[in-house]
Amino acid sequence: MDHNTQQETTHKPVKRKEMSRRQFLSYTLGGATAFMAGGAILPMLRFAVDPILVKKQKGSFVKAIEESKVTNEPQQVDFKVHQVDGWYESDPKMQAWITKGEDGTIFALSPVCKHLGCTIGWSGEEAPNKYHCPCHGAQYDKNGKTLKVAPKSLDEYQVKTENGWVYLGPLVPNSRV
Ligand code: FES
Repeated sequence: MDHNTQQETTHKPVKRKEMSRRQFLSYTLGGATAFMAGGAILPMLRFAVDPILVKKQKGSFVKAIEESKVTNEPQQVDFKVHQVDGWYESDPKMQAWITKGEDGTIFALSPVCKHLGCTIGWSGEEAPNKYHCPCHGAQYDKNGKTLKVAPKSLDEYQVKTENGWVYLGPLVPNSRV
């Protein structure tokens, strides 16, 4: 290698890879589009999955009646439950038959007949001292045990007492019969 060639090789300018105007425009437009799309899509995504992210109030209890007012005779008590179903929130009115058992424990029965879901009532001419369903004549005893027509006993609410009040929780299968 002669002296001149060697000089050319050593002083060769470094070739920089330059971005073409077209590439620059594509990157800029692509970035801006992705940013704007993200801004529009992310809130929608958050809105769509919101019910999944909301903490469910499992097993919450609702104040129903003063403990001192519960007797051995079943009493119909109305109460409201706050329900969240996806984006829809409601406070449906619920009902329970609350009684003090012979052992002194307070229990609450569901008023929904286990035959086809009509609303039962307590006592009356047709069934003295029994729960009676007006639809097809199902009968239950004071503990909710099925006596005729209905295939199962009445469900009961979970019950807890606190500071002189009776609180009702979720419905569970009857544990008294
Ligand atoms: S729904 Fe109660 S007896 Fe049929």
